[in-house]
Amino acid sequence: MRTEIRRMTSDDIDEVLVIEESCFEDPWSREAFESEMSGLNPCVYFVAVQGDRLCGYMGIWHILDEGHVTNVAVHPEYRGQGIGSKLVETAVSDGISKGLTAFTLEVRKSNETAQGLYKKFGFESVGIRKRYYANNEDALIMWHHI
Ligand SMILES: CC(C)(COP(=O)(O)OP(=O)(O)OC[C@H]1O[C@@H](n2cnc3c(N)ncnc32)[C@H](O)[C@@H]1OP(=O)(O)O)[C@@H](O)C(=O)NCCC(=O)NCCS
Repeated sequence: MRTEIRRMTSDDIDEVLVIEESCFEDPWSREAFESEMSGLNPCVYFVAVQGDRLCGYMGIWHILDEGHVTNVAVHPEYRGQGIGSKLVETAVSDGISKGLTAFTLEVRKSNETAQGLYKKFGFESVGIRKRYYANNEDALIMWHHI
């Protein structure tokens, strides 16, 4: 089925929360997404939609000329179809069109799937944040310079 990528709105929060809770041990709260959709934060969120089903999302903060990726997630039933790639491709192209010259993110050291996704789009691991996550796991810091 065709995947459409479009900007996320407040109306998407219920479905985004379902994905968030199916993907992460420490999911973001409704309030966190409401804050991101308030228009007060310098962020851009995209969602992936197949038919009437929301199947993934990605967020990025635009800070000066840098893009800080907050999260990328695809519902487990929809993985391996290129949806994560479409989200990253769209968010990076959109950021470049708005003047971003570099992108960064943190990813769990054990999350080789996500690292594979980011490497595909030019992200490189440049360092480690020790015990960054609640379970004390280290984060890899990745950057992609345009
Ligand atoms: C990471 C995630 C977003 C990928 O979404 P997806 O739609 O399955 O990704 P794609 O189908 O576009 O695959 C993109 C790349 O990811 C990697 N990848 C995807 N599935 C993989 C798997 N099962 N094993 C290893 N690498 C995998 C590959 O590098 C792949 O590139 P390729 O298709 O050229 O081989 C998804 O697995 C997910 O939501 N994971 C849980 C949430 C998460 O960990 N988010 C990242 C937080 S930093």
